[in-house]
Amino acid sequence: MNLVQRTVQELAVNVPGAIELFETYQINYKTHKRQPLQDAVLEGELKLFEITERLELLLRTGPDSDYERWRHVSASELITHILENYHEKHRVQFSDAIRLTQKVAAAHDHHPSFPHELEAELTRMQFDLEEHMMKEEMILFPMMEKGLYPSGPISVMEAEHVDHAKSLECLRVLTNEFAPPADACNSWAKLYTDLQTLYFDLKAHIHLENDILFQPHN
Ligand SMILES: [Fe+2]
Ligand SMILES: [Fe+2]
Repeated sequence: MNLVQRTVQELAVNVPGAIELFETYQINYKTHKRQPLQDAVLEGELKLFEITERLELLLRTGPDSDYERWRHVSASELITHILENYHEKHRVQFSDAIRLTQKVAAAHDHHPSFPHELEAELTRMQFDLEEHMMKEEMILFPMMEKGLYPSGPISVMEAEHVDHAKSLECLRVLTNEFAPPADACNSWAKLYTDLQTLYFDLKAHIHLENDILFQPHN
């Protein structure tokens, strides 16, 4: 992503924490939302560089920005964190999002910007993710809690994470990067905000498993 050419609005919807960051640099979201970042930053290149560095950092770390600390806990502790903060949460997020999609579809079926594939895509993602999480909960995680790192099941989970990441990109495209049209109702706007949260949560979940949990502790 070339951050400086993205509009302030695009960055705000795609980078968690971007709005707060803009405020610290006196970039008024409402005034500048349609401008590319490079035009919204008036103090020169150095400031622009500083802001893009901080945006990159937010993009890399996502909502679980303190993830470094999970490198220093036991596998059991990390598994408990993943189950409570991601697996359970995703189950609620998907059923709520599908319900809200149906509600928005019923009201805006003929709107040219409404993504008709969204409900089917979310239902497919929910099914795939549920199957994946069940395998982790029933097979892999109990083994890891005993100190084992079975390479076969771990490779299968990593391959499925790649599929999940592809589905998330599809979701991002379908929703126009989580940007509802200007005339969207409150439910449509909430749906896209919720889907964006789901997008970053699932990315953080995958990151915690691939880069920390699945790496044997020394
Ligand atoms: Fe998981
Ligand atoms: Fe997983």
